[in-house]
Amino acid sequence: MGKRIPKDRGIDNSLKIMKEGYEYVPSRMKKFNTNIFETNVLGGKTAVVISGKNAAELFYDNDKTERKGTLPKRVVKTLFGKGAIHTTAGKTHLDRKALFMSLMTDENLAYLRKLTRNYWFQNIENMQYQRKVNVYNESTLLLTKIGLRWAGIVENPDNINKMADDMNKMIDSFSAIGSLYGGYREAKKARARVEQFLEDQIVATRKGKIHPEKGTALYEFSHWKDMNGKPMDARLCAIDLMNVIRPLVAINKFVSFGVLALHEFPGERIRVALNEDDYAYKFVQEVRRYYPFVPFLPGKAKENITFEGYKIKKDTMMVLDVYGTLHRDDLFSEPDRFNPYRFDVWDGSPFDLIPQGGGDYYTNHRCAGEWMTIIIMEETMKFFANEISYNVPPQDFTVDTTKFPGKVASGMDIEDIKVNI
Ligand code: HEM
Repeated sequence: MGKRIPKDRGIDNSLKIMKEGYEYVPSRMKKFNTNIFETNVLGGKTAVVISGKNAAELFYDNDKTERKGTLPKRVVKTLFGKGAIHTTAGKTHLDRKALFMSLMTDENLAYLRKLTRNYWFQNIENMQYQRKVNVYNESTLLLTKIGLRWAGIVENPDNINKMADDMNKMIDSFSAIGSLYGGYREAKKARARVEQFLEDQIVATRKGKIHPEKGTALYEFSHWKDMNGKPMDARLCAIDLMNVIRPLVAINKFVSFGVLALHEFPGERIRVALNEDDYAYKFVQEVRRYYPFVPFLPGKAKENITFEGYKIKKDTMMVLDVYGTLHRDDLFSEPDRFNPYRFDVWDGSPFDLIPQGGGDYYTNHRCAGEWMTIIIMEETMKFFANEISYNVPPQDFTVDTTKFPGKVASGMDIEDIKVNI
């Protein structure tokens, strides 16, 4: 007999989770003084929530934890798309993941760095022209342009503002638990519009009507053949191409968090600007750790499992506590203090710094775009810290951890932008 797993009472705690947001899981872990508890969600289904480094290690053990079929259907329909890589398993996952990872060459990543730098620079005049710039909105548009360009889509769609807005609608749909999310329909419509645009690009590439450069996502996805030698269905191809561009736009959240950190924490701006000992990198890692983004990830026990003396029965729904793991004091000392220097001594474990998932990039579902995220954030933060000066007017800086999704309430307004000479 294993130990009895502590239980958060309630027939369906979904509403409670939506109300308490990122605080729900860490507060229960504290209350029960464990790394595991049970709760009922989504119409009464029992889920076992696990937290910490051992939890991440178990969650990313493909023999013990099943991921296929565990994402809420609504999230798949809006955020990832039907048949997306996130929903695959086994050989199909390995095969498709290799395609995503093949884009992460040194050359492509260096190009992304350059694009990010150039786009922000080219945008200075436009930012100066606006009296007040909302960093969240500005970065949404800029990242949409960067994402399309990096993916090999040279012509911007006619209404790039609309597309940026559609990306945002999809990104915010991750708060969908049960039927509590009002923007679900809007997010579905947004997805249909962007999918159609990308499918047209893929069909045009296959027909030789447009010629994206070899090595770009559009080229590689359009010409890719799966392990059975078959090209991907054009719609599915569009869905997974979008799984490169949409999450890149989602970096808008980290950008506004980062600009908030530059403003809020004394000395950060100057340290990022000087960038001694790769400080910008450490700053970005801390932004990804500190601020609330991905709250948790779902899975299922593939077999009967023992976790720290507790038995989890085969087929039980499992939830990995992402946000809580990033704020544990056994993994990050003084976790509620913003301190980039902690990454001076970090050992690079794949199971503690997990804002974009953990484990292995090629064999697990760990985010394919984590290196891209770090690069875009480094260049963007260096730009804000070093290349321009601005005033930060009074506004609502609240980052409310009791609400999904995490965001700076104001989105970060800045004004009177000047170029540093
Ligand atoms: C998977 C977060 C940026 C592409 C994931 C996962 C998370 C995540 C939590 C799932 C991990 C799991 O299920 O175990 C984020 C965050 C980002 C970001 C917070 C920054 C805002 C990107 C970018 C790309 C990308 C820039 C561009 C390539 C993907 C793909 C997957 C994924 C393709 C699916 C991987 C798989 O199923 O094997 N991401 N991501 N993400 N991400 Fe990201």
